Amino acid sequence: MISIIRFMIEEVKKIKEMAIEEISKISDLLSLENLERKFLGRKGLLREILQKISQLPEKERPKIGQLINQTKKEIEKIIENKKLEIRNWELEIDKTIDITLPGDKFFSGHAHPITQVKNEVAEIFQSMGFEVIEGEEVDNDWYNFEALNIPAEHPARDMWDTFYLRKNNKLEAINDKQKSLKSKVYGLRSGASLLRTHTSNMQVRVMEKRKPPLRICVVGKCFRHEATDATHEHTLYQIEGFVVDEKISLANLIYTIKCFLNALSRKEIRTRIRPSYFPFVEPGIEVDIGCENCQGKGCSVCKNSGWIEILGAGMIHPKVFESAGYPKGRYTGFAFGVGLDRLVMMRHKIDDIRWLHSGDLRFLRQF
Ligand code: PHE
Repeated sequence: MISIIRFMIEEVKKIKEMAIEEISKISDLLSLENLERKFLGRKGLLREILQKISQLPEKERPKIGQLINQTKKEIEKIIENKKLEIRNWELEIDKTIDITLPGDKFFSGHAHPITQVKNEVAEIFQSMGFEVIEGEEVDNDWYNFEALNIPAEHPARDMWDTFYLRKNNKLEAINDKQKSLKSKVYGLRSGASLLRTHTSNMQVRVMEKRKPPLRICVVGKCFRHEATDATHEHTLYQIEGFVVDEKISLANLIYTIKCFLNALSRKEIRTRIRPSYFPFVEPGIEVDIGCENCQGKGCSVCKNSGWIEILGAGMIHPKVFESAGYPKGRYTGFAFGVGLDRLVMMRHKIDDIRWLHSGDLRFLRQF
């Protein structure tokens, strides 16, 4: 019996020594928790010995019990001290980090100003029940011109200087006078590939696939063989709206345009309507808006007229319906086209269109 007691006392001492040694070696709170469990836990080493107490005669039990309790308290104390020690180290490390220093900033990009306005325009037209599409950027002579009542050789083609694509896919820019010459040389005929000069190319493309009622908004890139300057670019964005149904009127067109312009400017804006000519509309109009820069008094932005020309429109010409294969006289419709870049320039008072496609971050970061 004596030997069992002595054995247990020896065990308890060993556990304490083990605890002291192991705890001294660690330097983090997680390992400390593991050791606490190992020595003092429910299935810990001290607990194992405590369970063996019942094998001892009753009078011996308190002595051993006390020893275990005391050892438990001592180990608890060692653990407590170690905890403080670890926390102090951590505080020391914290002190070397200046939490008042500004952190590393993440640079996050944002949408290009053209994209921002483009998305807004799409939302406005969607809210008016229009379907928004982008459409073909590379198209052919038929959809871009002929189907829109602009035959080859017609002087109206001069309104849109065009990038034609030749058979060997080499991009070639020729204006119309050159074209009529070259058509003899290269045999250019209806169907020649080109980069669309306006979003109006989508009118017949949509009509020939679908029956009215149609409410379509095309937002996308167009290309012109322009000499670039502050107001002209070879690549531009247009917004085209067209509606086809029975009994569509000029009043519907004017109301739609005004709703759109007011929604985009977030206020009531002054408009002026003038008769104009586009081969694919009859009658044709142009819409001017009051110059915001001078409030209509006249300045360099509006070339002293007090008005800024922004939009071409009109009632869709019967020839266009004919190109789409619609029955004669059945449908009426309106169409309008706006330069998106223009709208962006007006909103942000940008004085040179070339900034928009420059990719210059000093410019772009301002929006
Ligand atoms: N497509 C014409 C242009 O680019 C604008 C327009 C569209 C005019 C629809 C009338 C109707 O100049």
